[in-house]
Amino acid sequence: MVHAERFDHILRVARLSREIAAAHQLDTGRTYLAGILHDIARDLPEEELLRLAPPECAIDADHPLALHGRAGRVLLERWGYSDPVVLTAVEQHTTGPLPDQPVAVAVYISDVSEPGRGVNEEIRRLAFCDLRGALELAICSKVHYLQGRGISVHPRTMSVYRALTERTC
Ligand SMILES: [Fe+2]
Ligand SMILES: [Fe+2]
Repeated sequence: MVHAERFDHILRVARLSREIAAAHQLDTGRTYLAGILHDIARDLPEEELLRLAPPECAIDADHPLALHGRAGRVLLERWGYSDPVVLTAVEQHTTGPLPDQPVAVAVYISDVSEPGRGVNEEIRRLAFCDLRGALELAICSKVHYLQGRGISVHPRTMSVYRALTERTC
């Protein structure tokens, strides 16, 4: 279902997610599984993504790839998968997880900072001692980057940003 290079990325995400989970006494097996499943819908055709996860906003409609998190959740639910922690991590990995979902945060951080990406090393390092801090750095950097270029930020990402910046940034 996913391309070969994607599978290498998926494995790196799953392994890093598990390491971050272990550092914070989270459920490592569940976190690893969420990492393995996070891009389950990433290589589906756009029409399929739109069918599985109808757009919630103009950004979704203009960039169906942004739907692959929600679409992945729908796909897993259709296959009978029901663990809400894993489903939430899959769903939220594209637009960003809320800080009260640590397994989803571990997967999100791993997705943006796994070594194969060659970026965000600071975020990866920070995640081992301060998971929320790493999320703040990742989300704030993303929002500020997009806003600085006049690019619209996904409403779900803005919700996460607001949840984080009520007391920081
Ligand atoms: Fe993804
Ligand atoms: Fe990914």
